[in-house]
Amino acid sequence: MRKPIIAGNWKMNLTPAESKTLAAAVVAAAGAHTGDVDVVIGPTMISLSAAAEALAGSGVGLAAQNIHAEAKGAFTGEVGASMIASLGCTHVILGHSERRTYFGETDEGVFRKLRAALAADLTPIVCIGESLGERKAERTLEKVNFQVRAALAGLDPSDVPRVVLAYEPIWAIGTGLTATPEQAEEVHSEIRKTLADMFGDDAAAQVRIQYGGSVKPGNAAELLAQPNIDGALVGGASLKADGFAAIVAAAKG
Ligand code: PGA
Repeated sequence: MRKPIIAGNWKMNLTPAESKTLAAAVVAAAGAHTGDVDVVIGPTMISLSAAAEALAGSGVGLAAQNIHAEAKGAFTGEVGASMIASLGCTHVILGHSERRTYFGETDEGVFRKLRAALAADLTPIVCIGESLGERKAERTLEKVNFQVRAALAGLDPSDVPRVVLAYEPIWAIGTGLTATPEQAEEVHSEIRKTLADMFGDDAAAQVRIQYGGSVKPGNAAELLAQPNIDGALVGGASLKADGFAAIVAAAKG
């Protein structure tokens, strides 16, 4: 059985002090579920330390929203994987569509960052998903399969279960539109077939695949009830502890 994973992507919101307050509220509201569900929050880089203080000893994981692929060096403005790990990060979100769209993140970059994350003992959450145009052109599965293969190619099969994938249709992010459970499940099961083709059935069966895109307390349960939906990557609804905790509770079933 795959342990569900609910991760909050706080994006570019909240100061360090506000992040510490929300992290403490998440611990209070959802910390009791961490035995059954992996619960993770993702503040901005500058708020990681403050959030880590609030999470200490709680079992709630901490994610950065990006890393650089190199460990250190002359890369002004960037942060390496072992640096965020030293602050208490357990996870890192990679290849979010906002990074791909606004900051030139490429499949090649995601490939390299994924390896950097694994080398630093972080759990990578690798985001993939199609645009509205690609969905309308019936190219969803082609696009998502391409991104999965590009990110994971050549990975040692023993490392594959450490990777979390997040299927996020771009047209559903922050728009209030959500893929139907059937639409999402179709893509998730296709992703698992691709993983099986690349790494074998055993590894594929262990990989957690999150759905993301306007997940809320009101729609989480039906999405999470799908056989290949193993969690959620939550943006807007993760900025309120009670709503986020309700999504965690839905994952517990
Ligand atoms: P949303 O964001 O829940 O606000 O749609 C999801 C994401 O970008 O990960």
